[in-house]
Amino acid sequence: MQIDVFTLFPEWFGWFESQRHVANALAAGHELRYCSYRDHTPLSAGQVDDTPFGGGAGMVLRVDVVDAALQGFYGRDSREVRAERRIVALTASGRILDDGLVDELAAEPALTLLCGRYEGFDERIVEHLATDAVSIGRYVLAGGELAAMVVMDTVVRKLPGALGHEESAREESFSAALEGAPEYPHYTRPAEYRGWRVPEVLLSGHHERIREWRREQSRRRGQSG
Ligand code: ADE
Repeated sequence: MQIDVFTLFPEWFGWFESQRHVANALAAGHELRYCSYRDHTPLSAGQVDDTPFGGGAGMVLRVDVVDAALQGFYGRDSREVRAERRIVALTASGRILDDGLVDELAAEPALTLLCGRYEGFDERIVEHLATDAVSIGRYVLAGGELAAMVVMDTVVRKLPGALGHEESAREESFSAALEGAPEYPHYTRPAEYRGWRVPEVLLSGHHERIREWRREQSRRRGQSG
């Protein structure tokens, strides 16, 4: 998979790329690329945003700047790019990211993520340049970069080669293997610490009982949410 991130802060993603599962995905042939809006702005002094029509606080990312960045980066009209790949605008008002949407995005051969800043995007970016608007939760971040990293983190760990064991991606919270429920609790050594004991069944070596116990715990967590 190829993921391209459009941002004012490409250097923030250096830390992200150093995470083990991301580095594994890159080594397995997946590709992450970055485009700085400032490198493509047609305006002077690297301007990328402007005050909102109708008044109000803050600055809004300009549609001509994002259009120029898409055209400059891909070397063709943004309408053609939009017809070929999903272009996701990260915005607090978008479709909430959940495991189903992550699966959907992870199945794409290529994704483009647009990070907003300040008060967000000129709405024409969402309407005419993007194919999707995605939110990581009903709260407002100072910009889309952290949201892009959340999307990339969740998508990348679903890609073949990202996680050490194929199993660890499959029977996890919200997966089909657990019927959409949260994952069961995990324990490791010591078996007892300050009087807090690990459930006996996990120490029993009885695989069928352990499987049943985990299913039941997962189901219960799903009901209490
Ligand atoms: N940009 C600002 N807030 C956001 C959020 N909650 N999700 C995605 N992008 C955002």
